[in-house]
Amino acid sequence: MGWEVVKLSSGNYHLACRDSRLTELNVGEILVKVEYSSLNYKDALTVSGKNGETKSYPQVIGVDAVGTIEESYDSDFAIGTRLGLFSRGLGTTKGGGLSHHLVTRAGDPLTLPASLSSLKSMAIGTAGLTAAACVVRIQSHGIRPSSGPILITGAGGGVGRIASLMLRELGFETVLATRGGGLVDDALTQIIPPLKSTHFQLLPEKWAAVLDTLGGESLVTALKSTQAGGLVLSVGMVGSPNSNLSVYPFVLRGITLAGINLDRIDNKEINQLLEFADALLPDELLMRFVNIIEFHDVPHYVDLIAKGMHSGRTVVRVASPK
Ligand SMILES: NC(=O)c1ccc[n+]([C@@H]2O[C@H](COP(=O)([O-])OP(=O)(O)OC[C@H]3O[C@@H](n4cnc5c(N)ncnc54)[C@H](OP(=O)(O)O)[C@@H]3O)[C@@H](O)[C@H]2O)c1
Repeated sequence: MGWEVVKLSSGNYHLACRDSRLTELNVGEILVKVEYSSLNYKDALTVSGKNGETKSYPQVIGVDAVGTIEESYDSDFAIGTRLGLFSRGLGTTKGGGLSHHLVTRAGDPLTLPASLSSLKSMAIGTAGLTAAACVVRIQSHGIRPSSGPILITGAGGGVGRIASLMLRELGFETVLATRGGGLVDDALTQIIPPLKSTHFQLLPEKWAAVLDTLGGESLVTALKSTQAGGLVLSVGMVGSPNSNLSVYPFVLRGITLAGINLDRIDNKEINQLLEFADALLPDELLMRFVNIIEFHDVPHYVDLIAKGMHSGRTVVRVASPK
């Protein structure tokens, strides 16, 4: 069974739980029995037909998966090996993780270290790996805790939540721009409302770096208030993919605007990011922001994401209890 988005003759899209169509494997293909998956913003986009990456339907959703090889037509992947799959078209152009079985091939899956539990690998997921890539980029830009606060927008979501936990563990002061409450507010963490658009070309310099998941005017206002020489990372477009950007922050303050796309990062580096996230986030800290749901609960949680009412990470238990 898998959660599949189908396009109706009316042009609308519908999420349905349907039998997985398992066909004979081709050479190089691997059949994975999925244990856990997770929910991400992209799943809600695919369900509404608004994910530009998904060109054909039906499409099984789920951009992350962890499971065990049940059949393999690739001699490098032995039956019984545990694999993790993160993005790489999973759930958008390839059969996703919200299914009892999925077919993959070398290049997409990672063999997970024995020390990392399946549950934690999905709690981190694509969102956590993206957060880790941002943290590494902030550090390699030469930004240190003494440089000043790091702004995170859409901070209640998976990427923002995990990034803020990591930065806090590294001693950075974080400022979380969020519509919701419930985020930890302590000496190293400040909560502010979402950034508003402004007609000023520049604002007082505040942030040493920014991790923006919203795009649109949030990104523009963040750029206007970043310190000279600072770094702004654009990772998402929950607000809007378009913005009215001027060159002032770049020309007058020498700010760097950089994009992060996890799919452009090779498996070797993804493995390092996974180790980095695992080491930095003790289970008891990370799991405080993780909701574990059952397979049949998926439509309800996808709906919460679509309505902007979802926060933290949601892991889906896919395998039926033994
Ligand atoms: N570049 C990459 O490789 C990569 C990888 C993973 C994800 N992404 C992208 O990063 C973005 C965030 O992903 P995520 O997994 O963190 O998503 P998520 O868990 O669904 O969180 C999105 C957050 O955005 C805020 N939000 C939701 N609706 C909003 C609205 N209408 N207006 C303003 N804010 C709203 C909410 O935060 P508050 O409640 O705090 O306001 C929400 O928790 C998405 O665009 C996703 O596609 C990119």
